[in-house]
Amino acid sequence: MKIGGKDYRTVWMSGSSVNFIEQNKLPFSFEIYEARTHMDTCMAIKTMIVRGAGAIGASAGYGMAQAFLESDGSREYVDEAKRRIEAARPTAQNLFYAANRVYNFAIGSENSAATAVEEAQRIADEDAENCMRIGEHGNGLIKDGFRIETHCNAGWLAFVDFGSALSPVYVAHRSGKKVFVYVDETRPRSQGARLTAWELKNEGVPHAIIPDNAGAHYMSKGDVDMVIVGADRIAANGDTANKIGTHEKAICAARFGVPFYVAAPTSTFDLGCETGDAIPIEERSEDEVLYQTGPDGEGVMRKVLVCSPGSRAMNPAFDVTPVGLITGIITEKDIIKPSEEAVRSLFS
Ligand code: MRU
Repeated sequence: MKIGGKDYRTVWMSGSSVNFIEQNKLPFSFEIYEARTHMDTCMAIKTMIVRGAGAIGASAGYGMAQAFLESDGSREYVDEAKRRIEAARPTAQNLFYAANRVYNFAIGSENSAATAVEEAQRIADEDAENCMRIGEHGNGLIKDGFRIETHCNAGWLAFVDFGSALSPVYVAHRSGKKVFVYVDETRPRSQGARLTAWELKNEGVPHAIIPDNAGAHYMSKGDVDMVIVGADRIAANGDTANKIGTHEKAICAARFGVPFYVAAPTSTFDLGCETGDAIPIEERSEDEVLYQTGPDGEGVMRKVLVCSPGSRAMNPAFDVTPVGLITGIITEKDIIKPSEEAVRSLFS
């Protein structure tokens, strides 16, 4: 995607460093964070300098490659690094997919460091290509004049490029269709209000940020033609974990007869989880609920208490939408009507 006329990916490797668009600073400032070691890359994943399933996956693959470069041939070193990377965030399946793929490909190979770097690069390239295909498939569902609601950020910042839920929107917009996007603000970290809105503005796609609790209002008035969301992990039966609040949107969509689509590459599926009950849900700091961050008049990032002082908060980062509420899953291979059979057919 282009920023100020220049092509960027969300994450990329140069030499032994991994570079990230610093997502905690967006949309207020555009900065690149350079992770020189796999430990720095782990920290970037943990602190959400990089976030979103595909981007986390590519970062984990690159982090694994960094560990091989640092290891001097020590298997203990890469094993320890793999454990560290896999502990960075628990829900996004792409992290485990990429760490395992790079590790299994490189371990025991003759030049394991070079092999690891090549495999990590392949994962990142595939992520971008798969998202482009998701856009092409998903565009077929979008009619001229559609008003689409999305939750959180499943745009190019959540992947290496293009995105999952927003990729069909970009393809539709570029092909000349009129589209309008309702952007759920997505508290507590506001990935919708900050990141999705910023992406859509850069692409010139008409949109409005709406409060998290406004979805039912617009759907009930017939103002939403479809919902498209991303996914962090999809179980073998099609149950889908995504940013907290997604389940509520799916319930509203079912209530008002609005088609509810999930868009995700096959690297997000976890056939090891039979149903959504087996998907680990990340519990994050209560500070994310209690405080908001943003720049003050001088542009310095500040943290401001926005809740009753002394009250505690709870902060589950994801919820699971049951398969029965999902109209279809848009993947790079096909759009499926989700069921265990349909999910398994993607891998046969
Ligand atoms: O906590 P985050 O920002 O890493 O959350 C993940 C997400 O961005 C969303 O759940 C998104 O909709 C799916 S990831 C492509």
